[in-house]
Amino acid sequence: MNSPPVEVVRHDQPLVVGSGIAGLATALSLSGSVIVTAAAVGDGSSILAQGGMAAAIGKDDTPSAHVADTVAVGGGIADPDVARAITAAAPDLIKWLADIGAAFDRTPGGDLSLGREAGHTARRIVHAGGDATGAEVMRALRAATLRRTDILLVTRTRLIDLIRDDAGISGVLTLSHDGRLVAHLAPAVVLATGGIGGVYDRSTNPRDIQGAGLAAAARQGAELADIEFVQFHPTALTVLDHPAPLVTEALRGEGATLIDETGARFMVDLHPDAELAPRDVVARAVWAHRQAGHRTFLNTLDAIGPAMPQRFPTVYAAAREAGIDPCTDPIEIAPAEHYHMGGIATDLKGRSTIPGLWACGEVASTGLHGANRLASNSLIEAAVMGHRVAASLVSYDPTRSGTLVIPSDALDRAERYFEADTRKVRQIAWEHIGIVRDEAGLTTALELLDDVAGPPSDSSTVAKLIAAAALERTESRGAHYRVDYPQSNPGLQARSHTIPAPHETARLPLTTASVAP
Ligand code: SIN
Repeated sequence: MNSPPVEVVRHDQPLVVGSGIAGLATALSLSGSVIVTAAAVGDGSSILAQGGMAAAIGKDDTPSAHVADTVAVGGGIADPDVARAITAAAPDLIKWLADIGAAFDRTPGGDLSLGREAGHTARRIVHAGGDATGAEVMRALRAATLRRTDILLVTRTRLIDLIRDDAGISGVLTLSHDGRLVAHLAPAVVLATGGIGGVYDRSTNPRDIQGAGLAAAARQGAELADIEFVQFHPTALTVLDHPAPLVTEALRGEGATLIDETGARFMVDLHPDAELAPRDVVARAVWAHRQAGHRTFLNTLDAIGPAMPQRFPTVYAAAREAGIDPCTDPIEIAPAEHYHMGGIATDLKGRSTIPGLWACGEVASTGLHGANRLASNSLIEAAVMGHRVAASLVSYDPTRSGTLVIPSDALDRAERYFEADTRKVRQIAWEHIGIVRDEAGLTTALELLDDVAGPPSDSSTVAKLIAAAALERTESRGAHYRVDYPQSNPGLQARSHTIPAPHETARLPLTTASVAP
């Protein structure tokens, strides 16, 4: 078979894949980098974040209280050392973001306004524009990135695979928007590709976020951790599936209630904290109520009423676009995939188990979140770890040797990229690897995923990894709920680690002359 032509671009700087908060925080902290991103700079999930950024800034708050809350929510397996490092860095991180221009909400006296969210024992959530934190932080990061002449931007370019030589990871094979296959070679690669929402039928992530970085790392045999733990958000608008517009849990914090079509508050009988029960409990309850044939709504009329447009402009705008006026009518909601606690296992420097490969943000698993992420801990982790990755890269100076190789099916997958049946994968994942799982469903999922027609996709690779890890964990813990094992098993109270078998490799065909960037 003739290989398609592959252009080669050689870079002297580290290459960052992804341009959400993790990718931009990394690139901005390096002196010189290349960002390869699937869409425009800053597009992705970070921009959609409505929750805020948790940091122990308040005078009665401490990083150790933030650690305790993170660990308490993490289902018994969050790593306290990781939580200590990240929460300690959080206040300075907020200052860094403010210094580069993020306009956080402030009190009339000019201090940061600190909100409280479920699971936090102190007011420590920094917001911007009410419920538009992700958009504002990304606006500031994007503007700072565009001002930097030492950051090369390669946009509308998809990650196909990692390239390696004898020294380790040495670049990425990509598919450009115009169909060109380009190998970007670099001293080191940082994966900051975000989560896996596009693997599921409904997600608060854009559909294109299908775990490209996670799948590529798996094909190299990188260690992965906590892959079974997927967080589902209980309240996303029903009108759209990708991204399903989030109806922030801050609304429930302010007293909004969950009701069904009869007006009954169905959470009241299910948990002492009713609507403020842990996110996984609420998600399962909404799911079960809908499975039983009900419709489910968030009622903001009494608690927030006409203040919705001012206080929650993002939710208000999304509801209006869906033809709902939250000042007069309850908002129909349903659960959606929201965040992957699992990912590429990294240390506190963001290093994976493969030389030359770093990861940060949602694609990585540091152990901070355990089995269940505490609200507003994800943007903060992504940015703190971006800084740590950049610091770690400074001393990395590999001596390149050996032949450049890629997974042997990489070129075929790239050529047939748009033929992959990702829709079928989404249906299988939603039905069998979702909010409620059991052995029969997970086994069925693995069989059905093997039978999906067409070329293998990143989403089918990721779905299989989640199903296999979920099958292995014969208990319920945090966001992982097994109907056949509804209790936690103290004997299984540990993070999970898996090292996928690396794919066979083939020489990277350098069929066209190398070009300078
Ligand atoms: C929300 O605002 O409900 C989501 C916040 C988060 O996921 O951290």
